Amino acid sequence: MSFEFDTLKVQAGYEASQHNNAVSVPIYQTAAFTLGDSYRADRLFSFSEEDPIYTRLSNPTVDVLEKRIAALHGAAGAIALASGMAAVSYTLLNVAGKGGHILTTARLYGGTVDSFGHLLPDLGIQIDIVENPDDTEEFRKKLTPDTKAIFIESLTNPFATIPDFEVIAQIAHSHKIPLIVDNTLATPYLFNPFTYGADIVVYSATKAFSGHGNVIAGVVVESGKFNYDNGNFPHFEKPLWFLRDGQGKERSILQVFPDIPFTGRLRAVHLNYLGAALSPFDAYLVLLGLETISERVDKQVSNTRAVLQYLEKTEYVSWVRYPYAEGNPYKILADRYFPKGAGSVLSFGFRGTDEQKRKFLASTKIFGYQANIGDARSLIINPAETTHVELTQEQRELVGLGSETIRLSLGLESAADLIADLEQAFIVAFELGTAVEDEENE
Ligand SMILES: Cc1ncc(COP(=O)(O)O)c(C=O)c1O
Repeated sequence: MSFEFDTLKVQAGYEASQHNNAVSVPIYQTAAFTLGDSYRADRLFSFSEEDPIYTRLSNPTVDVLEKRIAALHGAAGAIALASGMAAVSYTLLNVAGKGGHILTTARLYGGTVDSFGHLLPDLGIQIDIVENPDDTEEFRKKLTPDTKAIFIESLTNPFATIPDFEVIAQIAHSHKIPLIVDNTLATPYLFNPFTYGADIVVYSATKAFSGHGNVIAGVVVESGKFNYDNGNFPHFEKPLWFLRDGQGKERSILQVFPDIPFTGRLRAVHLNYLGAALSPFDAYLVLLGLETISERVDKQVSNTRAVLQYLEKTEYVSWVRYPYAEGNPYKILADRYFPKGAGSVLSFGFRGTDEQKRKFLASTKIFGYQANIGDARSLIINPAETTHVELTQEQRELVGLGSETIRLSLGLESAADLIADLEQAFIVAFELGTAVEDEENE
């Protein structure tokens, strides 16, 4: 029997009979697991038996989460990590190796941009930028013999632009490299990138994935369909001492993890040696959040649409960016790829002075002023000065990010209350004069 998303999100990856019949997934709060006798230890350490050894590498609570996530994507494997940044960084280290290039765009979360600008180049990974991601041919033109992957966000932070996945996946595959998609803003409920050719999907599970603003977590998922044995990824083919079999013979990643080479290597190398393991308690929180992802995200999408309608009418706003905003160029792609909705993050241009903007941000009573998205509570921020402060002037121009930009992340409150909150904050901010009057005075 195959099950639908809403069944898998509460049931997949867990057999109560294997956990003392506990109905809720138990939290295995332990650092290590007894090895039994030394023969069993031999089997565990030579990968011929799969039980947990040490929680940095695997843990039964985390394992349920990983299996559930893989099932939700129809994917071969998943690995849970201590943050979304660990998921992004480990993924790129895993695919590129020293000397590899990653082809990406400037339409990314600010922390990712900063790591691409500073950390990864220092570690020998070159980042190449497609300046206009809407021109998919630019991806093809910017490929080099050393390009090891294309990395894109599915709904971008903060402007919710949408790439043409199928075309970009085809370009990546014609170059024998994987397409990696950061699907954080979209969530697996709204969009499954594997359906459209992605090979690896990463998440900040801190956001709508878990949905309650109470945990920092990251996820890497692999389709299991990409062939790393194509000559471009020698680090997957090389025999390694730490992968030796019971007779001491060295084996490669592809030999030990034929079905899940990407997450297998990430666990054996990056999780093992760099160590950003998700704690069992945090895995439990993510599992709990996942149980209501469809219901939460549906409500957040409907709140986003209601707030969008209000913002489009109000005089205090100069533009609104969301795929379903009036005249937005991404509507066609949204209809194709996001039939259930284009997420719960939208941005608008504040039509006032910097001082008025500061007053507005200080005056909301429901919207929380925080550097986060996807929470059950609605959030507001000025990304140019906070979440995306790392962007250079050139990157700001490429993305179109000015200091008038305000980003909203819609939560689960009443839409009417959210709109009333924005309205009263605008009134407070403009109490010395309306936006229209300000323009006349200029
Ligand atoms: C699209 C995207 N990817 C990755 C991250 C990093 O995730 P985390 O904060 O869980 O490390 C964020 C954080 O805002 C994000 O928005």
